[in-house]
Amino acid sequence: MARSASSRRWLEEHHGDPYVARARRLGFRSRAAFKLLEIDARDRILLSGMTVIDLGAAPGGWSQVAAQAVGPRGRVLAIDPIPIEPLSGVTVITGSIFEDRVAGALREVLSGAKADLVLSDMAPNRSGIRAVDAARALAIAETARDFATDLLKPGGDLLVKVFQGAGVDGLLASLRAGFRRVSIRKPQASRGRSGEVYVLGRGYGL
Ligand SMILES: C[S@@+](CC[C@H](N)C(=O)[O-])C[C@H]1O[C@@H](n2cnc3c(N)ncnc32)[C@H](O)[C@@H]1O
Repeated sequence: MARSASSRRWLEEHHGDPYVARARRLGFRSRAAFKLLEIDARDRILLSGMTVIDLGAAPGGWSQVAAQAVGPRGRVLAIDPIPIEPLSGVTVITGSIFEDRVAGALREVLSGAKADLVLSDMAPNRSGIRAVDAARALAIAETARDFATDLLKPGGDLLVKVFQGAGVDGLLASLRAGFRRVSIRKPQASRGRSGEVYVLGRGYGL
């Protein structure tokens, strides 16, 4: 079957990608693990004992990094519609963040507790129509913000992937209103042409 130019380009990049080889060598489920490791090396967002919510967690690279960092006194709650193979220290909820059932399951697991950190590496399925994809990406990032608003402890942090485009300024403004400090991160492991950046909000409600 003929491959599209974009899937050919993805395969070429994937096979020549040093992060893919490194992830395999170190036992990480995704090259994305290095994005979180890099951000954490700079910003120290993951600490022992923390409760971390990982939105869009499949196949589980970020959850692996988070579970190692929070250790046995902490916990990681991972959400994705794609099933995630079990990981030590990680509670998996299978479903979309847009389903009430998923938010309910998350609250039930937390049983009244709040999280120290909300992570979102979510990326929408691409339709190929630029305006549709931008709207989906924004809706996902806004919903991650709403999860953070609902479930973070005062002083907690949010790390959310956003795709540059219409509506992002409004999202940033709402994060600046809710967090003490908001910064943009573009880790080396994030492919240059992807248009993705990570927004780090620190000190929720302070
Ligand atoms: C780039 S991947 C995440 C990689 C992950 N951070 C890792 O390190 O393995 C993006 C994920 O977002 C998930 N996603 C997309 N829409 C979602 C939604 N509505 N709710 C939850 N997850 C979603 C996708 O299923 C996909 O697994």
